[in-house]
Amino acid sequence: MNLPLSAMATPGLFISFEGIDGAGKSTHIDALARAFEAQGRAVTLTREPGGTPLAEKLRALVLNDTMDAMTEALLVFAARRDHLQQLIEPALARGDVVLCDRFTDATFAYQGGGRGFDLHTLSFLEQLVQSKRGLEGYFVRQPDLTIWFELAPDIAARRLAGVRVPDKFEAQPAAFFSRVSEGYLQRLQTDPQRFARIAAANSRETVWLEVLRAVRQKGWLT
Ligand code: TMP
Repeated sequence: MNLPLSAMATPGLFISFEGIDGAGKSTHIDALARAFEAQGRAVTLTREPGGTPLAEKLRALVLNDTMDAMTEALLVFAARRDHLQQLIEPALARGDVVLCDRFTDATFAYQGGGRGFDLHTLSFLEQLVQSKRGLEGYFVRQPDLTIWFELAPDIAARRLAGVRVPDKFEAQPAAFFSRVSEGYLQRLQTDPQRFARIAAANSRETVWLEVLRAVRQKGWLT
């Protein structure tokens, strides 16, 4: 299967947020939701793996159980399929702004980069799972914008230390997160217009201004 990777015009907006664990996405996602709501937009806030009752069950397995990389990839894509069908596509069709904490770039970064799983298989699964019938035939659903919070693994590890009990991924060594970061960089290089790359080591305020700038540049917030 070789479907075009073009986004179809739907009334909504789809923005994803990426970065290694500890990069500090969450506060900015909430703040962006409030900024859109203040301008009268309905917002659907969601996350991956997860976002629906079934996908949240799969999330618990992926984050806590030991499994081989292919099983992990299949589970995150199964969760993604349900999430798209049940939540994301209906929200975009209604005209919502969908703010999603991680999406498929995380699979390429964590399962592909971190765990070394085959990228061609991930691309095949991406096309299979994210294909959607539109007015002009099938297309592959992708975020309209991906905000990548880029942070050196050693800084992220210091931020995470002692904050909470680490899940399976958070407990990985710095070398794992270097490969994850490399995975994100490769994704950016294959689709640079989709990405806003933000230096997450800066102060929270500076990072927030960069997030706003990325969204305003698209003309989506005034
Ligand atoms: P988070 O919601 O706290 O960011 O945790 C989700 C974890 O799952 C995070 O460590 C990244 C990982 N993950 C994958 O390994 N593959 C994926 O496709 C996604 C979406 C997340």
